[in-house]
Amino acid sequence: MDKHNIKNYDELLKKSRDIEWFWGEVSKEVVEWYKPYKKVLEWTPPWVKWFVGAKYNIVHDALDKHANSWRKNKVAYIFEGEPGDRRKLTYGELNIEVNKLANALKTLGVKKGDRVGIYMPMIPELPIAMLACAKIGAIHTVVFSGFSAIAFRERVNDCKVKVVITCDGFYRRNKIVPLKSMVEDALQDAPSVENVVVYKRTGGDIPWTPKRDHWWHELTQAQSSKCDTEMLDANDILYILYTSGTTGKPKGVIHAHGGYAVGTALTLKWVFDLKDEDIWWCAADIGWVTGHSYTVYGPLILGTTSVIYEGAPNYPGPDRWWEIVEKYRVTVLYTSPTSVRLFMRHGEAWPKKHDLSSLRLLGSVGEPINPEAWMWYYKNIGKERCQIMDTWWQTETGTFCISPLPLTPLKPGSATKPLPGFTAEVYNEEGKPISNAGGNLVMLTPWPGMFRGLYKDPKRYEDIYWSRFPNTYLAGDVARKDSDGFFWIQGRSDDVLNVSGHRIGNSEVESALVSNSKVAEAAVIGKPHEVKGESLTAFVVLKKGVEPSDELRAELREHVGKEIGKIARPDEIWFVSDVPKTRSGKIMRRVIKAKAVGEPIGDISTLANPEAVDEIGRAR
Ligand code: WTA
Repeated sequence: MDKHNIKNYDELLKKSRDIEWFWGEVSKEVVEWYKPYKKVLEWTPPWVKWFVGAKYNIVHDALDKHANSWRKNKVAYIFEGEPGDRRKLTYGELNIEVNKLANALKTLGVKKGDRVGIYMPMIPELPIAMLACAKIGAIHTVVFSGFSAIAFRERVNDCKVKVVITCDGFYRRNKIVPLKSMVEDALQDAPSVENVVVYKRTGGDIPWTPKRDHWWHELTQAQSSKCDTEMLDANDILYILYTSGTTGKPKGVIHAHGGYAVGTALTLKWVFDLKDEDIWWCAADIGWVTGHSYTVYGPLILGTTSVIYEGAPNYPGPDRWWEIVEKYRVTVLYTSPTSVRLFMRHGEAWPKKHDLSSLRLLGSVGEPINPEAWMWYYKNIGKERCQIMDTWWQTETGTFCISPLPLTPLKPGSATKPLPGFTAEVYNEEGKPISNAGGNLVMLTPWPGMFRGLYKDPKRYEDIYWSRFPNTYLAGDVARKDSDGFFWIQGRSDDVLNVSGHRIGNSEVESALVSNSKVAEAAVIGKPHEVKGESLTAFVVLKKGVEPSDELRAELREHVGKEIGKIARPDEIWFVSDVPKTRSGKIMRRVIKAKAVGEPIGDISTLANPEAVDEIGRAR
């Protein structure tokens, strides 16, 4: 027990019932305020403020304090590029890079509160860019480099980005992804963007717009390696991260400096028990919340050494990850069930080729982990020595909420119980707590890393998350709580799909399909998929006079890839003459899904066009 960061777990859990006192107390372990707070919590549901009155900047804890301590010579990031190039950056070096870029951003006129759009792959310059923004009080909005130019543009325009930070290209499966060309496309129609900073990763010709575009290395070269960290309010916005919801348009989730720092650092310290000697590898892309919280902010605040890997997991062979674990002596690996299932498909011979004895703990996130994947991970990667921490959380929650600890009992497939300081429940439709049956996963009290709203859309924030049950956060997941109080997450309850652990809204893909001039209407559902968890199937109604064909199928797939990104391309596209709808015109995805996967379709008496259901059946 003594070896764990959490001591006296039962006592901690008891103390945590007074959330305000508790978070005030434990925050001292991980953050240093410039000026102390007056109040831990101000909760006027659904609006929250944490550490009210404190002066703060997350960069102080993530970087400044380490650069001024013995950790300045400790490695912050071990980087491995897909072609095999490597780089190690100490906290001292990271600090210098961040300061130079922060000064460069100032010369481009970036000020507190301005939005900076970051469209970068998994290279150390991505966290450097994020920290440089945070340092000067600018708000970063990172867009996953796998999203398309159009998706990037949509986000840039939504929050009126002033400066874009990107790179020329990056390596993926031995090919160069031409990111700067995509930026060029995106910025055709993005009037708020004044300047673009381009990091040179691959070399080679790229499109260039003089005056607007600047090379990172040229811009930073003459800059001072010192830059004061802006003293902000603890509740100032740190970032906006877009995530999928039930409408065609992604939502801009807002996180703030102080609470998020406390939440990410402590949850990481508790769940993965990180110590100074650990080599931590959160394998998620930084373009998603998992990378924001657990590759960038959480581990840096704890002064951890993290691995960043640029490329595809199975390139050049399916043992690339295991080679990395062996080479850098990774002690804790955090990934998604989808990745585990991918490796499982390649077979256990691949991890067997490598010495994985440095691993002491494993983690899982993004989707429910099925028993088969759990066992494979436990046996072949953890060698039955490492526990698996199945962490439940969301872009909105900012940090783990329900998760085991290395010292609490596990039930494979369950994220176990809420962490200290979190109060999760399962509610039935009437808002009463229920056990042993599926219901709505809710959170009854606020927590420090929680989001602060949706960018420019307070009403949507109230409606989506807080209107179903009074003063209670509705997660949008279905869960079951068993008689021992363990939570079993079953999937989304709203129209959001989970493909390879990534959130994609049904209506987002439908909107993309309908934006093609040949498509009249589309309905998108998720089908169970062996590796990806869910795969996308689209039923498409073509405009009059357009003939269905395989070429058109391929064209529509590519079209969705262009509109959103490759991850959103449907695996199957079926052409139908109509899709089942209610009399008010709402597409009945529930019925379509049931029919498509061969489950009972239930009551269809409210449908305006029941005959369309049969056609879905025939399209199987
Ligand atoms: C799902 C990712 C089961 C869930 C951090 C949630 C999970 C959505 C788990 C959030 C888990 C995440 N077990 N399901 N351990 N973790 N999910 O915002 O449906 O990309 O609502 O955040 O992923 O996805 P998001």
